Amino acid sequence: MNIQKNISLKKYNTFGISVNAKRFVKVTSVYELQQLLKTEKDFFLISGGSNMLLTKNLEQLVILIDIKGISIDKESNNSVFLTVNAGENWHDFVLWCVGENYGGLENLSLIPGNVGTCPIQNIGAYGVEVKDTITKVEALEIETGKLVTFSGEECKFGYRDSIFKNTHKNLFIITSVSFKLTKNKHKINSSYGAIETELATQKITSPTIKDISNAVIAIRKSKLPDPNEIGNSGSFFKNPVIKLSHYNALKKVYSSIPSYPVSETLVKVPAGWLVENCGFKGRRFGDAGVHKNQALVLVNYGNATGIEIYNLAKKIQKSVIEKFDISLEIEVNIIQ
Ligand code: EPU
Repeated sequence: MNIQKNISLKKYNTFGISVNAKRFVKVTSVYELQQLLKTEKDFFLISGGSNMLLTKNLEQLVILIDIKGISIDKESNNSVFLTVNAGENWHDFVLWCVGENYGGLENLSLIPGNVGTCPIQNIGAYGVEVKDTITKVEALEIETGKLVTFSGEECKFGYRDSIFKNTHKNLFIITSVSFKLTKNKHKINSSYGAIETELATQKITSPTIKDISNAVIAIRKSKLPDPNEIGNSGSFFKNPVIKLSHYNALKKVYSSIPSYPVSETLVKVPAGWLVENCGFKGRRFGDAGVHKNQALVLVNYGNATGIEIYNLAKKIQKSVIEKFDISLEIEVNIIQ
């Protein structure tokens, strides 16, 4: 393993924040990772770098998880069980599945990041969450260096949530994720409004998983900035859940406020709508900004610092509280 000195992390985080790692190493196998952890106790992990905001140079060893490989564990007539190593790019994996006609992940096309981080925040989009297909997660316990397997149930998945964000935070390094996908009789999830519209535009009435993947790619490209062109981390905030009574009071004043039912007494409100209605959509403050097509995505136009992006986020939170009495929770990991 080659430990490099003073490496810029700009290309390793999708926000494109220019900070340096004092020491930097790529690991390509679980064995290498286990060896490294025997001596290195102060480290910082990077995978796809798609859900973090770096606000300063990193003094600790930065470990890039670059463990690749996909294997088929078993197959039946209708299903396939796969194990995918943490360093595989998420979207390349989804496209590979679609190409093999393995169904279940097509709605999650074009999400930035790597496979190893998909369980941490239970990535979700267009009516599907990755928890629906995960059978197990293998992770290295940092303290003992041992591999531990978590069943899907043990991961305690929730909306953008799992044990890896809570009780198990910073205790494990995910090394692989296993999935159960369909080989035929795919469950086509096309009911999400934007997908229906996209399929109708293309005059597709019985969509295949490839059609769904293409529709999602088209929708995401039209709404969300490509991190290769404008730095960003996808949704910066979570969609807040509020009391129905609070929502009804807001609805009297803001008749267009959207909502999704959560329970009899709770509803979810799109953070993008709240941010837009505080006047931030498309605004730019130096090189930090709010995306013009999706207000819950903060962007780096080139040379914004992590602090500038974070300050903009705090300004937005303050404004949303003042106007709607709703506190927006940040979804991205702020590294400070
Ligand atoms: N909206 C606005 N203004 C905006 C953005 C959205 O009014 O600037 C309104 C839309 O009109 C719509 C509603 O908000 O009524 C929902 O918008 P959208 O369908 O774009 O979804 P979202 O709730 O804003 C969530 C996820 C996205 C995911 C989409 C599609 C969260 C925090 N975000 O966004 O996830 O792609 O649904 O399923 O749950 C991500 O996590 O990085 C991400 C992009």
